[in-house]
Amino acid sequence: MNEIPGGSEVDVRATVNGAAVHRTVPARLSLADFLRDHLRLTGTHLGCEQGVCGACTVMVDGRSVRACLMLAAQADGSEVTTVEGLEDNEHAARLRGALSRHHGLQCGFCTPGIVVAACELLGRCTQPPAEDEVRETLSGNICRCTGYTGIVDAVLEAGQSVGS
Ligand code: FES
Ligand code: FES
Repeated sequence: MNEIPGGSEVDVRATVNGAAVHRTVPARLSLADFLRDHLRLTGTHLGCEQGVCGACTVMVDGRSVRACLMLAAQADGSEVTTVEGLEDNEHAARLRGALSRHHGLQCGFCTPGIVVAACELLGRCTQPPAEDEVRETLSGNICRCTGYTGIVDAVLEAGQSVGS
């Protein structure tokens, strides 16, 4: 946990995965540490902790953000969705099967961030996304294992039903 000792504290009230939460936390606590350490939502992974790898991707008010670069205090009043909150999401359900079929994960460390980013894309599409759109969306999510092809194919398959 990256908390600065002696710093001031703030109240954070947010809706996280559909549930109202209220915690008093250090003012400089990151949203990622808030989710992982205070709410025990450890599906939000931490890799680089400097905005590069995308492992910490969550949605805030429907847009994907890097939770390591955002303060918990900045999420006050917002609606936050982590990978745990996508359990009943139709796009996430299709993605889970497609990632398996296309061998789109190996160690799985990057997978929660990729699922969140892909679900945000599929949620705002009105028709199946093109491959370059998928690749651009996932360009901020680093995977050390798969070579990306299986991930992109999985998102394209999951996106086939968008708009139908
Ligand atoms: S841990 Fe946030 S972008 Fe890498
Ligand atoms: S599956 Fe291992 S980092 Fe992506």
